[in-house]
Order: sequence, then structure tokens, then C-alpha cells
Amino acid sequence: MNQTITSILERRSIRAFKPEPVPEREVNWILEAGLYAATSRNKQPWFFSVVTNKAILDKITRGTLETMRTTNIEQYKIKAQDPGFSPFYHAPTVIFLSGKDDEASAVIDCANAAQNMCVAAYSLGLGSCYVRSFKQAFEDRVLAVELNKALGLPEGYSTIFAVALGYTDEPPPNTPHRNRDVIRYIK
Ligand SMILES: Cc1cc2nc3c(=O)[nH]c(=O)nc-3n(C[C@H](O)[C@H](O)[C@H](O)COP(=O)(O)O)c2cc1C
Repeated sequence: MNQTITSILERRSIRAFKPEPVPEREVNWILEAGLYAATSRNKQPWFFSVVTNKAILDKITRGTLETMRTTNIEQYKIKAQDPGFSPFYHAPTVIFLSGKDDEASAVIDCANAAQNMCVAAYSLGLGSCYVRSFKQAFEDRVLAVELNKALGLPEGYSTIFAVALGYTDEPPPNTPHRNRDVIRYIK
């Protein structure tokens, strides 16, 4: 197996991080991997915000918790009672991927970039988690405006995904089962 396939297969979602910061050089390679993702008609309809500012991450966490507490999804309500909960698992660096509102393929393109970033992170010896749950913080319209500003978003962009990044602080997670009954060879 070559290095690319190994990184794709061995990357796991990491949900516990050491507090030590991710070196800028590594962050830059991860961003570069995101920028090289395939995009529909090469539109690159995205914006990446690299956040190490704990106050901003805490604000998004509080907003997420607020929505989780008031939802009728039981699983979220239970999670919201955990005092240590963070949608970013206390990662020291979080990259937010925002898409251009008027580009139909922005969500797909951002998803491609997020996956590239996670694989690149693994190849550099870093843990990552592809995250969407934090989006609940943006359901509060007033908070959303504040957060968009904090993330430096240009007008007309909305945050879609995040990639939590850092050095792994947990034993290698089990590989979730992959269903193989989804492949057909048509010859
Ligand atoms: C679109 C998307 C959203 C996700 N959102 C979250 C999330 O909010 N929180 C989380 O812990 N994991 C999240 N994940 C990670 C998945 O749970 C994980 O990829 C899946 O369970 C398979 O595990 P693996 O990444 O270790 O292979 C998300 C993954 C994707 C692709």
C-alpha cells in the first residue's frame, strides 16, 4: 500500500486533543491540501478561518450548547448536560470552512476540502475531527452575525463545516465498520 492510501485508510476522527498548539507550518500544509480539493467548475466557493482564539471557540461552544439544550433530540439534550462538552473536543486549532451562499456546489466543495484537510493532518502526525454539530450555534440569528464577523467571513458566505486539529490525546480509536455491500462491478 502506498502512503496516500495508508493515510486515507488510517485516518480516524479524533475526539481528544492535547492542548499544545499546532505548528503554523503544519496548519499551512493542511490549508494547502484544502485548497487543492476538487471543486465544481473550479469555482473554489469557500473561505477558511483558522481559529486558535479560545474565546471565539468557547462562544461557539456556548451557542451550540444553548441550542442542544432546547432541541427535542434526546441524544443532544443528554450531551448538553456534560460539563466538559465541546463540539471541537478542546482542539487547540479549528479550521472553519464557509461556503458562498449563491454557489449551488459550495457544500460539496467544502466537504471535499474538509476531507482533504483531515487526511493531510493524519499524514503529518496530527489528529483531526470533521465537525458539523457546532452549526447549531448559528441557529441564533443574532449570534450568527457576531460569529460570522469573528470568523472574518466576507459578505455572502456561511459556515458549513469545521475541522478540529491537534495532537491526539487518546488511544487510536477503533475503525468504524465499513459496509462493503455497496459496490457492484458492472462489466
Ligand atoms: C459531514 C460530516 C459531519 C460530521 N460531524 C461530526 C460532528 O459534528 N462531531 C463528531 O464528533 N464527528 C463528526 N463527524 C465525523 C463522523 O462521525 C466520522 O467520520 C464517522 O463516524 C466515521 O469515523 P472515522 O472518521 O473515524 O472513519 C462528521 C463527519 C462528516 C463527514
